[in-house]
Order: sequence, then structure tokens, then C-alpha cells
Amino acid sequence: MIPDSFKQDLLNRVDIVDVVSRYVQLKKGGANMMGLCPFHTEKSPSFTVSPAKQFYHCFGCGAHGNAIGFMMAYASMGYVDAVKDLAASAGMTVPEAPRTPQETQRRERETDLYAVMEKAMEFYRAQLKGSPKAIGYLKGRGLTGEIAARFRIGYAPDDWQGLKAVFPDYQDKSLVETGLVIDNDEGKRYDRFRDRVMFPILNQRGSVIGFGGRVMGDGEPKYLNSPETALFEKGRELYGLTQARDAIRTAGRVLVVEGYMDVVALAQYGVGYAVATLGTATTPMHITKLLRLADEVVFCFDGDKAGRKAAWRALEVSLPLALDHKPMRFLFLPAEDDPDSFVRKHGQEAFEQLAREAQTLSGFLVGELRADADLGTAEGRSKFLTEAKPHLQKITAPGLKLQLLKQVAELGRVSQDEAERLMELRSPGERTYNRPAPARASAPLITSQEQNLLRCVLAQPKLAGEMNHELLDERLPETAALRTIAGWVEEEGVLSEAMLIERMQGSEHETVVFRAQASMLEHGPNEASAEPEFRQILLSLHIKRVNEEIEALKRDGSGRADLGAELARRTKELAALKGQRM
Ligand code: UTP
Ligand code: MN
Repeated sequence: MIPDSFKQDLLNRVDIVDVVSRYVQLKKGGANMMGLCPFHTEKSPSFTVSPAKQFYHCFGCGAHGNAIGFMMAYASMGYVDAVKDLAASAGMTVPEAPRTPQETQRRERETDLYAVMEKAMEFYRAQLKGSPKAIGYLKGRGLTGEIAARFRIGYAPDDWQGLKAVFPDYQDKSLVETGLVIDNDEGKRYDRFRDRVMFPILNQRGSVIGFGGRVMGDGEPKYLNSPETALFEKGRELYGLTQARDAIRTAGRVLVVEGYMDVVALAQYGVGYAVATLGTATTPMHITKLLRLADEVVFCFDGDKAGRKAAWRALEVSLPLALDHKPMRFLFLPAEDDPDSFVRKHGQEAFEQLAREAQTLSGFLVGELRADADLGTAEGRSKFLTEAKPHLQKITAPGLKLQLLKQVAELGRVSQDEAERLMELRSPGERTYNRPAPARASAPLITSQEQNLLRCVLAQPKLAGEMNHELLDERLPETAALRTIAGWVEEEGVLSEAMLIERMQGSEHETVVFRAQASMLEHGPNEASAEPEFRQILLSLHIKRVNEEIEALKRDGSGRADLGAELARRTKELAALKGQRM
């Protein structure tokens, strides 16, 4: 563990502009520095470095972070190495904080577990060489030895304790902890995977963290997977990523499929940029990862009913994370095919043609919504608008939101303004503080007051200590982020903005916080304007709350004896609050 105080010192001492300039040519553009993004291919610069705020942000691909994050991403360094590297360049030495015994133990344990998985993988690979049956199976599915080697495919022998051959201490607990063996009720231990073709699952660094084992005949289950372990969390991982990385970069595109064999078969037929979710629905973690990897994400689903359902779920998860510069598409295969069978029948070119023509996210969304409503009737159009509402509300990418709003308004035969109001896309406070010029049709859309508060707190973290959390909408991710920041400020006093970014990196709040920071590059607030703005927003939320309470009182309070007095008291309170408005 590197102490926080040291990180804070380091981030104060190094200038992100110097750090980035070592690798990227930067030019001055207003208050910021601009350059060509090193994380995706582009011709005009959308990579921005803020000297004032000490972070970088790419408006093209969404890459975002502080100096430490930049080194990690650019030089593929681990966290500790990145800190050490930066410290060295600033003439600082990282203090060797003593590790707690538990920490040392946990680390050693993890290292052990990776080694165990690696050894098991090598064992299965060796076994494949000696199994004509398994080799025959893979050949029968059109795979060459080269591709099998590339994906490190193996074979688990038909033996209850096959792993004993490489783990003579078969009782060692690491074998259970990695999920390679199972202890039955009588305390007898046996191999989890037997007589199956083995697909190792690697993490981003290329270490084996799990396996999927396919039965060769008709047995159940078709695929047996490693359980979740200290190393393996299904919702985070993407099968085939290690092998696909280069192809993704070259193609600028990543294809997300459902199965192990789909990834492998596509690679065999020249489509190297495919990865698979591991028998789980697509998670926000997946999407965030995918958007970092490529300029375009194509989700590929079977053409059947189950496929469309899975696609819809992926769409719902994608809406809040979609970025204007990174289209997401949905590819539906003919009902009888999956990517594996399709590419084998029709080849690479035909498959890639489908990928290029895949439906856009907005196309899919609007298509599904209108399939459910008869747009020829007033009732059908109202239904359509009502059903569109929660989806539009979820979108945060301003361009995409605006485009969809226009399209939905047109189909619902209402004006854009009416649609916006009907779907409550504009928060009431926005008009007070950020009034868009009425003539501009494409006024900046839909920022919640919680988003505005988050921006103020990022510009001036000490404000988090003055937050009135009761006024915030619990359902918004910004509220959760604000609460976390307030907790830190309460416990530790003031944090710098750089330190905030540092903590947010990799946390559940990463996306909302980074998005807020990115928007601040253009719209502020800055350190000075944050405080008055913060107070005005809280005030307006307070006014809104009191207003609502008065309305409720009028509606439901008729039985109260003191209704008149109470109303008078609250109305006075409201007037006093309004008097504080600037
Ligand atoms: P599918 O049933 O579509 O199989 O499962 P597939 O990928 O086409 O496999 P092949 O071509 O018959 O060999 C899709 C994915 O769902 C998970 C696996 O990740 C699989 O690749 N799955 C499926 C399981 O984990 N267990 C199962 O029993 C079935
Ligand atoms: Mn298949």
C-alpha cells in the first residue's frame, strides 16, 4: 500500500502536461492542451489535457484519468509501477509502507492461485495432444492446431483425479479455491472438469483465471464453467480479449458475441476482434471496458427470440454509458445461425458485411418501441412516447439524446419542446441556472441538479461537507457519488481534485465522475464560481421540496386542525427561501 499522503504529494508535484508531453505532442487550445489521442486512432485532436485540473480526457474515446492513470494506460503499467515511475521523474522515493501480514498473505495466496491455474492449463494442453478424440472434435468444428494453440485450448481427461498427475499434493486447498476440484459430502475430492474440451479464460494481463469445459457429446451441461473465485468474476471478464486486443486496435471495432466457440471460430475465419461475455448478461463493467477498447462496439446476437431479448437487455445497460463519438450497434444473425455456424457457412467477408450493416443503437431502440405501438392513433402515439420516456431519460450522451428526442418527437407527432417536457428530460432547475437561449433548438440538454452539484463539488471538494443529502434524488448515480465524496471529506478533511480522480479511478462512481469532469472542461464551474453556484442549486432544491410539501399539505391535510397555521408557516418559510435567491 502506498500511503495516500504520498500520492497527494506526488500529484501536487508532477504536472500532467509534462508527463503526457513525453509521449504525445500537445498544442495549446484555450485553457487546455490538445493532441491526438494515443488511445485510439484519430485524425483531428480530441485528446485534452487540463493543466488546471490535472487530468486528461479524450472527447473521442472517453479515455480519462490523472497522471498516474495516464502512465497505467499508456505504458500498460500496474498501479504501483506507474507511481514509482512518476515519483522517480519527480525525484521522489516511494515510501515502502509496511504491508500488513494479512495483505502479504493475500498477495502470496493470489500469486499461488494464478500459478495453480497456469499449471492446470498446461496440463490440459498436454492432455489434448494425447487425445485423438478431443483433437478429432476440434477438427470436426473446423479449427486448426494453430488456433487451438492461440486460445490455449486443452482437454481434461476422463479421470476423477486427473489433476493428481501435476498436483501430487491433491489435498492442497488452492485446488478448491481455484475451483479446479470439488469436495463431495463425504470429504472425497475429485476433478471438476472431466472428459471435456477446455477453454481457458484469461484476464487482461493474460493470466488464467478460469475455464469453460465443453462436453463432446450430448451431455449436460454443455459448458461447465469455473465457479466465481478470488481470481474470477464473471461480470467483469470478456473471453478472448487477450487474443483479440491487436485486431481490435487495427479494426477500431470490437464485436461482442455469446459463446466461446463463436470467438474461436471467428478468429479462425479471420475475424479476430471478437470477445464473448461468459454466459452472463452484458454488464456495465463490460460496456465500460469495451468502450475503452474500440471506437465502435457491435453486439452480436442470435436472430431468435432469446437473442432479441438478450440484445434488449444489453441495450438497456448501454444507454447510460453510450458516448457520442462511439457508436454501438446490434447485429442479428439469421434465426438458425450463431456466429460460429454463420462464418463457417458464409465466410469472413459475408460476416463482416453484416457487421458493417448492423443496426444502430438508436435504430434498434426506436424500432422496438414502435413495434409495440400503433402510431396511426393518438393512443398509440401516447403509448409510444410514454414507453420511450425511461429510455431517453437514461441516456447521458447529449448528441445521441438530442437525436433520439427529435426522432421520437416526430414519430409521436409532437414538437421537440413538447416531447422534452412530456418525457421530463429537462430538470426544472436548469431553466433557472443554465437558461438555454430560446432560439437555439439544440439547447444543451438535460442536466440534473445532482449533476450540477457534482460538478461544483469536483471543482471545490470541501463543498461536499455542506451537502444536504436529503434533497437529492436517490435514484441518480450522481447522488451516490456525492455521498461517497462527502464521506471522505467528513473523515479526512479537504481533498484535492487530483486526489478525488485518483480515488474514483476504477470505482463504481468512475463513469459519472469522469463524465462530469469532462463536461467541466467546457462549461466550468471553476474553483471560484463553484461555491455560489452550489448554494443556489441547494437553495432551489430546497424551495422545490418546500413547495412539494405545501402542495401535499393542501391535498391531504384537510383533516388537520392546525392546517391554516401550518400552511401559513410553510408559506412564510418558502418566501424566506425565495428571498435568498440571487
Ligand atoms: P450456446 O448454448 O449458444 O452454445 O451458449 P454455443 O456457444 O453455440 O456453443 P457450441 O457452438 O454449441 O459449442 C452460449 C454460451 O453460453 C454459455 C457459454 O459461455 C456458451 O459459450 N453456456 C452455455 C454455459 O456457460 N453453459 C452451458 O451449458 C451453455
Ligand atoms: Mn454454437
